[in-house]
Amino acid sequence: MAVEQTLIIIKPDGVARGLVGEIIARIERKGQRVTKIKGVHIDRALAEKHYAEHRGKPFYEPLLEYITEGLSVIAVMEGDNAIESARVIMGPTDPLEATPGSIRGGYATSVTRNLVHGSDSPESAAREIALFFGDD
Ligand code: RTP
Ligand code: MG
Repeated sequence: MAVEQTLIIIKPDGVARGLVGEIIARIERKGQRVTKIKGVHIDRALAEKHYAEHRGKPFYEPLLEYITEGLSVIAVMEGDNAIESARVIMGPTDPLEATPGSIRGGYATSVTRNLVHGSDSPESAAREIALFFGDD
């Protein structure tokens, strides 16, 4: 098993609903540990960089509106197969397709407002960790 780091974002709806501890705790219980964490109100420029792969898609503008609407909590989490294992706990993008035991399946109903982000590959994790923590 490979020890990896992944970037987790508790999106603004997750912070507003008081689910920060719950979401972090569930990833911790799977075996990961927080190595860095901070609150950030993501601005448009940072959101465009983070979600550059989605530029031009129909959900791009609503996605930027959503991710910039309030405070997010950004964490680097580390553990065996951290990237894939966090995404298993999160569940698929559309909460209506996610099992109820997953974070999105248990707590969200909207494909846009789905509470949490997790890096989707080692390359994305390295890029996103540098984007959010590179200057710290
Ligand atoms: P994320 O990047 O936030 O971890 O989510 P993901 O990999 O599961 O999904 P992705 O395809 O990367 O989409 C990024 C975020 O855009 C919003 N979205 N809305 N059809 C839609 O309305 C739609 N599709 C995607 C979600 O907030 C999704 O997490
Ligand atoms: Mg994604």
